[in-house]
Amino acid sequence: MNYTEAYLKLEKYNQTHLLKWYDFLSDNEKTLLLEKIASLDLLILSSNGSNKDKESISPLKTLTLSEIKEEENQDRDIGIKYMKSGKLACVLLAGGMGSRLGYEYPKGMYNIGISNKLTIFKCQMDTLKARVKECGKYIYLFIMTSPENNEITIRHFEQNNYYGYDKSYIKFFIQKEYPVTDMEGKILLENKFTPATAPNGNGGWYQSMRIAGLKDFIIKHGIEYLNVYSVDNVLQKMADPVFLGSMINRNSECGAKVVRKVDPNERVGVICMANGHPSITEYIELTDELRYSKDENGEYLYNFGVILNYIFKVDALERTHENAFPIYKANKKYPYMDEVGNFINPTEPNAYKYETFVLDMIRMMNDCVSFEVDRKKEFAPVKNLHGIDSVDTARELLIKNNIQI
Ligand code: UTP
Repeated sequence: MNYTEAYLKLEKYNQTHLLKWYDFLSDNEKTLLLEKIASLDLLILSSNGSNKDKESISPLKTLTLSEIKEEENQDRDIGIKYMKSGKLACVLLAGGMGSRLGYEYPKGMYNIGISNKLTIFKCQMDTLKARVKECGKYIYLFIMTSPENNEITIRHFEQNNYYGYDKSYIKFFIQKEYPVTDMEGKILLENKFTPATAPNGNGGWYQSMRIAGLKDFIIKHGIEYLNVYSVDNVLQKMADPVFLGSMINRNSECGAKVVRKVDPNERVGVICMANGHPSITEYIELTDELRYSKDENGEYLYNFGVILNYIFKVDALERTHENAFPIYKANKKYPYMDEVGNFINPTEPNAYKYETFVLDMIRMMNDCVSFEVDRKKEFAPVKNLHGIDSVDTARELLIKNNIQI
């Protein structure tokens, strides 16, 4: 992209201030700036934040633990059969910033151990290795990183001998970024030649896989299902043959692991139907009336929360498009260079980050198996250092699950 092309691209979105310092830059800096402008996704700037339509919400039947038990054997058999023939691959979402934890490295590198060193990555890789043993075949693992943490994540896996996994079955890919703007929607500059960008949330994972050329890989290797999950659950049970089998036996194009809420007010996204499609309604979007509504047996109708462990059929993912996702604006503190060239480290939120969420993919599906799991065995999120969903609570749960920490 040359200067004129960059100017025209920016002009459409009122962002020509990004070229303000152009004449003062070295040739190398000019090239870097023009390359960055070429890659900027400006379309998202026209969004007013979350742009979901008003939805008519109804319950979605969940397969409960006891119902799963009844069909466990036949679901496991078919799940194992598909895994043995390489039809399932895993996608680990590890591009997040983990800002709530206040840890400056990728969250997966966090040592959750006390007497033993036990990184979050190790917890998850041990579980995946157990699955490989169970089905007798290595499972491809795609790991999504961000431009900021990609190098260090790859180095960490190398240094830890890929946690004993066959490295030819691990593929890293980098997620896309969106611009970071001030509160008026102007893209911030980090310095005279670097417009500010940040990871675009966990919704863009499949798009980022496509950009990385992994779609061809998936087709070539006959992968039909992708199990996508978050890095920040130390009890994450991925590549679960019963979960996969329950979807295959129901001919479903997606599945979501869910846990029974501890109480109606637990702050988790709940699985439901919206406008005739499976959907996830976030805590704040659920009205009190829905939150407390019960069925004829006295059970809450919206009682199952998602834990960021989904399986999608690849051909259904092919129907999803980036512009179908609602865009969420998060108000953040973001250091920047002001219009006279001073570097500012704000003490109050001064910027918007733009993100899409994987949970919004569910409404792009025709159906979804809502699959209950035992939260004491499968849900130990690490979001904060202390308190709810923290290092402390995750450690307690690891101990309860007889994992040496
Ligand atoms: P969170 O939504 O908790 O975000 O991530 P986070 O960035 O890790 O943490 P906070 O909110 O800043 O403290 C849920 C999952 O989605 C991944 C995370 O790595 C985690 O596995 N994620 C999130 C991405 O891969 N990319 C993103 O841009 C955001």
